[in-house]
Amino acid sequence: TETYPSLKRDERFAQLTEEHVAYFKEVLGSSGSAVIDGVTADAEADLEPFNEDWMHKYKGQCRLVLKPGSTEEVSKILRYCNEKKLAVVPQGGNTGLVGGSVPVFDEIVINMSRMNKIHSFDEVSGSLVADAGCILEVVDGFLAQKGHIFPLDLGAKGSCHIGGNLATNAGGLRLIRYGSLHGSVLGIEAVLPDGTIMNDLGTLRKNNTGYDLKQLHIGAEGTIGIITKVSIQCPQRSSAVNVAFFGLESFEKVQLAFREAKSQLSEILSAFELMDGKSQNLVQRVRSGKKPLEDDHPFYCLIETSGSNGEHDYAKLEAFLEDVMTKEIISDGVVAQDETQLKSLWSWREGIPECLGHWGGTYKYDVSIPIREMYDLVDDVSAKMEEAGLVGETDAHPVVGVVGYGHMGDSNLHLNVAVRRYEEAVEKVLEPYVFEWIAKRSGSISAEHGLGIAKKNFIGYSRDDATIGLMKQIKQLYDPWHMHGHGLGHSRLERSENRK
Ligand code: FAD
Ligand code: MLT
Ligand code: ZN
Repeated sequence: TETYPSLKRDERFAQLTEEHVAYFKEVLGSSGSAVIDGVTADAEADLEPFNEDWMHKYKGQCRLVLKPGSTEEVSKILRYCNEKKLAVVPQGGNTGLVGGSVPVFDEIVINMSRMNKIHSFDEVSGSLVADAGCILEVVDGFLAQKGHIFPLDLGAKGSCHIGGNLATNAGGLRLIRYGSLHGSVLGIEAVLPDGTIMNDLGTLRKNNTGYDLKQLHIGAEGTIGIITKVSIQCPQRSSAVNVAFFGLESFEKVQLAFREAKSQLSEILSAFELMDGKSQNLVQRVRSGKKPLEDDHPFYCLIETSGSNGEHDYAKLEAFLEDVMTKEIISDGVVAQDETQLKSLWSWREGIPECLGHWGGTYKYDVSIPIREMYDLVDDVSAKMEEAGLVGETDAHPVVGVVGYGHMGDSNLHLNVAVRRYEEAVEKVLEPYVFEWIAKRSGSISAEHGLGIAKKNFIGYSRDDATIGLMKQIKQLYDPWHMHGHGLGHSRLERSENRK
């Protein structure tokens, strides 16, 4: 776990005192869940889940977690922190994969889990208004009862918050169908670093009256404010959903299958996910379950269709599978026959991140690359790891496997290196090699997970100086005092000079 020995805390930020804690208790009330008082040493264990990230890679030393119950409370907290120069970090479900949701030093964690009410749903338009701290799966369950669907789905749905999803501009498993949150979010309510409440919680699709400022908060990772409420356009839920899982012998064939799927399944295609054979072998080692297909294949794809006519959709999917089988584009395939099988097939894709962490940790590179070259990165990094003698089955080898999977439909690859422990020798092979590889192909070094603490120093591989300069100006406008330290969230851009 990284505890930042190379970073120096900016001493212009205040240290937490009993007086501060007393103020927060007054604002949040004395109900136990409102404030976890970490000022005493015996509360350390309670604070651990808030200090450590999902990958067990990044760890802070926060001594106070605040759980506001309303927008007004968030506002009072931020205003006070701004005045007293207390650094904070917003936290949703803490499932982020770049270390952005945990403190670096002793920032106060502002955890949004108590703000979890669904406020309204318009059955005619499909617009939903809910608190930022609602859990994605809970919101989607609510929408299912109304015949609608949340326009985002991802493996962390049982824990992540919709506010966290917006803050990271999460992409997920059905972006190919429902598009990015930049398109589906209708409005937000946010509290700015000085405590100002920005109410842009419209429920209408169109509003061309000036700059669309809510867009700045989508993907800002909490650096310019805390999102407190979300208004979002939710599509009709499809009554017929089918899932097929198939094996292919090369990445060339994966591309052919993708082209055929787009042309033959067109409007009913709702997901096209890629898994390499190596990732599936590791999942099987952890779960020891029966794999969906009998033989091993170098690549697998999961296709989902969502439509309104089950028979028609199924016939279309079967005709597609027959066609790609006849043309020898796919080697083998299976179509889920019921809900249980459908969930089981999805679990071979959605379960990858958790299974890869089984041995100790995972180095994650979430990248966008022009689709033709997408998988070359996995081959190149695997070769370098082998060459360095780091991959193997014994404890002497830090690396268990180098695998690739991701959202084929969005040219978004997840290069993952599953390790027994986080180790410098592995990092030296990976960085800056991976970033240079991506930059040469004008790709993105962070396609959907954000910068956090993990990638902020490498923004220059994907953005030019003028763009980064503008980002700094925006940060300065919203959070001027924070320009020289870590005020609200992780000052991703400004603190880079402190990093190695
Ligand atoms: P957190 O992890 O708590 O926070 C993430 C960032 O947002 C932090 O910088 C935090 O400070 C900030 N933040 C949180 N809440 C707020 C708020 N209300 N206002 C302002 N800032 C806030 N991502 C994808 O894009 N696609 C995937 O398919 C995907 N799959 C995943 C699967 C698994 C198993 C896991 C563990 C993660 C996955 N992720 C994926 C990562 C993704 O970023 C998160 O799951 C999710 O979007 C983060 O939500 P969260 O509530 O957990 O936010
Ligand atoms: C996924 O697509 O599974 C997520 O983005 C998580 C990950 O990259 O591991
Ligand atoms: Zn992903």
